[in-house]
Amino acid sequence: MSASSDKTRVLTGITTTGTPHLGNYVGAIKPAITASQDPSVQSYYFLADLHALIKCQDPKRVQQSRLEIAATWLALGLDTDNAIFYRQSDIPEIAELNWMLSCVCSKGLMNRAHAYKAAVAENEETGSPDPDRGITMGLFGYPVLMAADILMFNADKVPVGRDQVQHIEMARDMGGRFNHLFKGQYFSQPDAVVDERVQVLNGLDGRKMSKSYENTIPLFVSEKKLLKLVRKIKTNSLEPGEPKDPDTCTLFQIYSAFASVEDAAAMRVEYANGIGWGEAKNRLFEQLNAQLSEPRERYQALLEDPGHIEQVLRQGAERARAEAAPVMDRLREAVGLGRFV
Ligand code: TRP
Repeated sequence: MSASSDKTRVLTGITTTGTPHLGNYVGAIKPAITASQDPSVQSYYFLADLHALIKCQDPKRVQQSRLEIAATWLALGLDTDNAIFYRQSDIPEIAELNWMLSCVCSKGLMNRAHAYKAAVAENEETGSPDPDRGITMGLFGYPVLMAADILMFNADKVPVGRDQVQHIEMARDMGGRFNHLFKGQYFSQPDAVVDERVQVLNGLDGRKMSKSYENTIPLFVSEKKLLKLVRKIKTNSLEPGEPKDPDTCTLFQIYSAFASVEDAAAMRVEYANGIGWGEAKNRLFEQLNAQLSEPRERYQALLEDPGHIEQVLRQGAERARAEAAPVMDRLREAVGLGRFV
């Protein structure tokens, strides 16, 4: 099954350093799985495990996260006959393209990358004599590797969060520069897609749900743990019977991201009628649990069968490499690294 060229090519990567949480599901996984069911789309979804090494030098965590993220996407119904699902590290062509792009990418462009700038700013704030303290070449060149991910498969659309838009623009820049230098149409220009309708969920403390704030609800914790976490979501001190505002309420926000439109509307009425926080939390737990219990079982079964996950990812890598290898041959030729005969 090869990707036909008239389909829109949608590509995105997931950095493998954490455990997927409700916010990842609502903001990225669910829309990606839905998009991959569109017959006019060929999707490329991959575990950005080379990117994981930038932030994480804990091999157990990287390995565990790769397994958990793969199991999560499969448990939630990603159709891997349709989507091409692979590990970045299984595609050596990506690392090779990373180098070729590094050699056309100006250092000045990377100086402007926000992840690098944020790291420098932090060093300056803490009064470090060396602004580059603790900054690796991996972090500095992170947008080049991301450009290699994207340009390797000539992606048309790259669904990402707002913070990643700059990197897509940099990928366009590098692709265009390569085309210009080597006088050919080697790379097309990818577009970032930031879906404003996709919800950014809040976490336990009311801030954006994020691993770095340690305020997440992991997707597939046990029922007991899920209930415990839902009970920890911060609410105000209004008593049962007092009307409550759903629009400023994390509980309601999470509820409505999982409930049907009708159930969410009914919950609004309950808020106006003064539902107590304990009761609202029970309802949220029930809603989440109803939707997550089946995939949770599939997830557990998958984790117990890593051989199956390995096989699925290898098949994905085979399909991805079938596309990447001829592209790389052409690029080697272009830069003067082709075969002699
Ligand atoms: N850097 C992205 C993130 O942190 C993950 C990623 C790596 C990615 N390579 C990509 C996303 C290519 C889109 C396309 O979210």
